[in-house]
Amino acid sequence: MAKEIKTIGVLTSGGDAPGMNAAIRAVVRKGIANGVKVMGIHRGYHGLLREEITEMDSRSVSDIIQRGGTILGTARCMEFMTEEGQVKAANICRKFGIDGVVVIGGDGSYRGAQKLSKQGINVVGLPGTIDLDIGCTEYTIGFDTAVNTAMEAIDKVRDTSSSHERCSIIEVMGRHAGYIALWCGVASGAENILIPEKYDYNEQAIIDQIVENRKKGKKHHLIINAEGIGHSTSMSRRIEAATGIETRATILGYMQRGGSPSCKDRYYASIMGAYAADVICEGKNNKVISVVNGQLADIDIDEALAVKKDIDDYEYCVSIDLSK
Ligand code: ADP
Ligand code: F6P
Repeated sequence: MAKEIKTIGVLTSGGDAPGMNAAIRAVVRKGIANGVKVMGIHRGYHGLLREEITEMDSRSVSDIIQRGGTILGTARCMEFMTEEGQVKAANICRKFGIDGVVVIGGDGSYRGAQKLSKQGINVVGLPGTIDLDIGCTEYTIGFDTAVNTAMEAIDKVRDTSSSHERCSIIEVMGRHAGYIALWCGVASGAENILIPEKYDYNEQAIIDQIVENRKKGKKHHLIINAEGIGHSTSMSRRIEAATGIETRATILGYMQRGGSPSCKDRYYASIMGAYAADVICEGKNNKVISVVNGQLADIDIDEALAVKKDIDDYEYCVSIDLSK
């Protein structure tokens, strides 16, 4: 029989993402609508272990749907990686009467949630990451805002790059996944998109292409480089030396994780957040909220973590064909 849920907790963990606030708001308000008490756990598992826990009412999440970052704060926590830390965290949940916790974050945060579940606290994960790299779901909260932020920045660099007839390397986030690079690369008409899943490290081929394009009259050359490949500055020096064409590197960095969330991120955060509140209030445990074939689903965390996601071959090939 499902455990009776009277009080739920909500926390944000790992890298922040635009839309996390909209998700917190949805969990709080839907939880209250379902008749449970909602506790905000500040600074992820780190704050949980320090009892940084406050009750949240409807007004506590007013005026946050449009804000980037997370009002609860986020953290990475080594202590929670230990069994001792996990036992302590579960005991703190019990002390505060928390029967279940909604964890907004990426796959690392779900691994943590799994451990909390093993200690007797119900958990439901909600995908909040700009990287789109969670296998079990088509959508992760924050991706849409991040790719739009990156695309707008790339458009600006492209203007000056064309004026000066330069080559530009723009590094975007994605330490292990190339989704951000692929999406904003295609959307900004980049000549090369270098992503960890596909790049063959054949820099000479890129150099040949730049020289060839210049002969054909292309005024600039735009390379979108994922953080997972990195080394954009040294790459720009090598390309400039080999081609004789001025080459500049721009690393977009953390600006991609901030800013007011897009409509799509606010909408999905609201719908998925509300669904997470429903699932945890029903007494379900060890689940990740996902979008599968456009529909909301709750998937077992173990199953969810086992699903591998890869860049679609056709989409990647199209990105090459359209860049010529
Ligand atoms: P993300 O959720 O963005 O993938 P991380 O991988 O940094 O972020 O994970 C966030 C936090 O989740 C970690 O700092 C740690 O406290 C917890 N966590 C991650 N993996 C585990 C694990 N295997 N066991 C227990 N806790 C974990
Ligand atoms: O939020 C995802 C992400 O941007 C990854 O692309 C990157 O690897 C990571 O966060 C870097 O975050 P931090 O510097 O906070 O560890």
